[in-house]
Order: sequence, then structure tokens, then C-alpha cells
Amino acid sequence: MTEEVKHRIFEPFFTTKDIGEGTGLGLSIVFSIIEKHKGHIEVISKPDEGTEFIITLNVNP
Ligand SMILES: Nc1ncnc2c1ncn2[C@@H]1O[C@H](COP(=O)(O)OP(=O)(O)O)[C@@H](O)[C@H]1O
Ligand SMILES: [Mg+2]
Repeated sequence: MTEEVKHRIFEPFFTTKDIGEGTGLGLSIVFSIIEKHKGHIEVISKPDEGTEFIITLNVNP
């Protein structure tokens, strides 16, 4: 992902996929769920290399 894309991925309806392909809802829903659990999500991504998501959840929220 480019820096520009990385900054927007949790926005509802943001997608880089073609019309009819992506909804742009996947990661915004993921973000809401993690937020509800007072967790944290980190994105590590380099263009044309790959993307890693690190999700941290509290055992005793
Ligand atoms: N694993 C991934 N690697 C690279 N880019 C990703 C990845 N997951 C999501 N993205 C980027 O974030 C955007 C939003 O993702 P998402 O909310 O799941 O919606 P959608 O998959 O419908 O596009 C994607 O369009 C893509 O640009
Ligand atoms: Mg998706």
C-alpha cells in the first residue's frame, strides 16, 4: 500500500478495487469491532511487498 492508501483504509466505503468489486467496508468493520474491545490495530505495509496487520486485544478489558 502507498502511504496515501494506508491513511484511508479504515474509512467506510474507501476501496481501491474496481466498481462492483470492493465495498470498502471490510476494514472499517474490523476497526469498529477492535475499538469496541478497546484493542489496537497496526498496519505494516510496503508497496508491492506485502501487508501485515497486528491486532492487540486486552484479555481483561
Ligand atoms: N491485505 C491487504 N493488502 C493491501 N491492501 C489492502 C489489504 N487489505 C485492504 N487493503 C486496502 O484497503 C482497502 C479497503 O479494504 P476493505 O475495507 O477490506 O475493502 P475492500 O476489500 O472492499 O476494498 C482495499 O481496497 C485495499 O486498497
Ligand atoms: Mg477487503
